[in-house]
Amino acid sequence: MKRIGILTSGGDCPGLNAVIRGVVKAGSQLGYDCVGFLKGYEGLVDPVSYLPLNNKNTSGILVRGGTILGSTNKGRFVAVAGENDRVEIDKSLLEASRKTCEQLELDGLICVGGDGSLAIAQQFHEYGIPVVGVPKTIDNDLSATAFTFGFDSAVACATDALDRLHTTAASHERTMVLEVMGRHAGWIALHSGIAGGAHAILIPEIDWTFENLCHKILERDQDGKRFTLVVVAEGARLPDGGHVGEDRGALKQQMKLGGIGQVVASQIQHRLHREVRCVVLGHLQRGGAPTTFDRVLATQFGAHAVRLVHHKKFGEMICYQPPNIHSVPISEAVNRLSTVDPKSAAVQAARALGISFGDSSSVGSPFHSPFSHSTSETETVTAGT
Ligand code: F6P
Repeated sequence: MKRIGILTSGGDCPGLNAVIRGVVKAGSQLGYDCVGFLKGYEGLVDPVSYLPLNNKNTSGILVRGGTILGSTNKGRFVAVAGENDRVEIDKSLLEASRKTCEQLELDGLICVGGDGSLAIAQQFHEYGIPVVGVPKTIDNDLSATAFTFGFDSAVACATDALDRLHTTAASHERTMVLEVMGRHAGWIALHSGIAGGAHAILIPEIDWTFENLCHKILERDQDGKRFTLVVVAEGARLPDGGHVGEDRGALKQQMKLGGIGQVVASQIQHRLHREVRCVVLGHLQRGGAPTTFDRVLATQFGAHAVRLVHHKKFGEMICYQPPNIHSVPISEAVNRLSTVDPKSAAVQAARALGISFGDSSSVGSPFHSPFSHSTSETETVTAGT
């Protein structure tokens, strides 16, 4: 019997169960049995814990958030401590994981995870364990793939929050700050800010000041719009360059980001002498059912991961390069964050609408690439980003 193993690792996100279902269904068509390891990589080592997966026990999970296999972003397997820092996994853990895969006669192990979890998969590959990577994260910060599943669902959640804040902020003529996740990338803040009609968006990729932000609020006052919605990414740096959060370097863990929303709200309140409220969306962004986009993407990722195992193309990570699903070496995808390009079409469009990024370019022409009628009728700018 041919057999595939699968695990979900790192912070959960909507769409993980859709991948699991995709692997089981596509695998069974090709004659593969499936086993799912519990709690990420931890399930591979003492005490080894896994669940036989089949069409019956994965039925109905397409629409369910979270992961039926459980997940963890802590524990014995940690391969990334901070931005671009690789931590070597203990050799005894690599050996024990290889043994488990051999004992279960796995043809391949599909590791579904974000940057940190795929960095572990890369070390597995270097150790000779037949792995295939599937990118997931609400942060959308993995290079080599245009989108990770989970991102669209998180953006939908943040947009819904902004829609709700809009009506209450307008009714009370308040400035409200929404803090969203995303680690060191501003994708969730940018996309939800545009979709939810925010007036200012603060992201890690664009330096900003409190003066510019307050200027935007006062400008709106002058226009008779006495309420403002500010979206701030948890990883946005304060004007002095610092992050807000808890340093966990001593534990060889990434910094726990969070709290910048309240800092921004307090500063606006202090400078403009008005009441400002902060909402931290937190893990609501990671929970709940995946959007249709994420269901489709996750299902495709699952099916194509099986294809990679079937063709023994190990050490590769599935990626979405619209309109196709491809794969790239995992080593090319990890430790290289995909962040928002400040000159991208989305940022330019936001600026064109008057959305402030808290920087000085928020005043003046938003378009870095002026229309040129000499080459074509329609201008293209870096699309999709
Ligand atoms: O990487 C996904 C993510 O949700 C980040 O956006 C956030 O900073 C982090 O995980 C939170 O992790 P935890 O659930 O461990 O607090």
